[in-house]
Amino acid sequence: MINASYPALRLRRTRASAWSRAMHAETRLSPSDFIWPLFVTEGQGVEEPIRSLPGVSRWSVDLMVERAREAQAAGIPCLALFPNTQPDRRSDDGAEALNPDNLMCRAIRAIKDAVPDIGILTDVALDPYTAHGQDGLLDEAGYVVNDATIDVLIGQSLNQAAAGADIIAPSDMMDGRVGAIREALEEEGHANVQIMAYAAKYASAFYGPFRDAVGSGGLLKGNKKTYQMDPANSEEALREVALDIAEGADSVMVKPGLPYLDIVARVKHAFAVPVFAYQVSGEYAMLEAAAAVGAGDRDALVLETLMAFKRAGCSGVLTYHALHAARLLGA
Ligand code: PBG
Repeated sequence: MINASYPALRLRRTRASAWSRAMHAETRLSPSDFIWPLFVTEGQGVEEPIRSLPGVSRWSVDLMVERAREAQAAGIPCLALFPNTQPDRRSDDGAEALNPDNLMCRAIRAIKDAVPDIGILTDVALDPYTAHGQDGLLDEAGYVVNDATIDVLIGQSLNQAAAGADIIAPSDMMDGRVGAIREALEEEGHANVQIMAYAAKYASAFYGPFRDAVGSGGLLKGNKKTYQMDPANSEEALREVALDIAEGADSVMVKPGLPYLDIVARVKHAFAVPVFAYQVSGEYAMLEAAAAVGAGDRDALVLETLMAFKRAGCSGVLTYHALHAARLLGA
């Protein structure tokens, strides 16, 4: 019961000085809250800037190792890797996902060799490997088939785990894939490899720059609405999360981030599990565009939005601003 009222109670009192504001902060942001998504490309010494993601580049494996060193020095615990597969290695069945020497696996091994103590999260979905840009296998009608896709996702997960991935993150939204992947990981001796399920992943317009980055954007015809969620729904998000937890997910993700913080809060409230959010490429691009036209201070915008994820209940955030934000916080 709050009995006091103005003027005995003045909520501005604790805000009056910096030391007091620091003492009363309910949420804290630190470099260990960030997972840094990075795009890998073929070659040696290659950096390819991504036009729709200003400030973000694809890196060849050797330079990726340097990014891992920078991340570790800044206190970032984990990287999320995505490959830009060469066009001639993309096919309708996405078979390159199963190649133990694919770009992804070479990047994982190189980072684990050079920086063994940083976590590596790998995306499981076929879109960086398919010639049609969809996350799974298509039938004659162009529908993404569920169960046959799961068989390939199992192989992709085992391939990534064998290369040294620490967290398998299925982003494909097939029904039943978390349980199937968990079972396969257990059978193949990967009991400690985690699964972070992209549990509530929406069919969003905010993924455009990412698709440019992995080179699937120009290939994709249509949309992903038969498997990714309708932005209108949140009851359904709770059902997705419940299923993924029951199937053995260690943590769950909500994606995109800022427009979906209500989902984060509901999931955190309903299930006592670690919840992560992905501040996706279009959100990053939006913040950068705002800062570029002087609509706001870049550093302040970045830290405020990242704090919002923590306040909503996130254990951490996948963000392209990870290195910059970690350095700001470390300074
Ligand atoms: C692939 C995948 C996507 C993203 C992460 N994994 C794109 C998509 O589903 O089309 C988007 C990330 C971002 O936009 O930053 N399954």
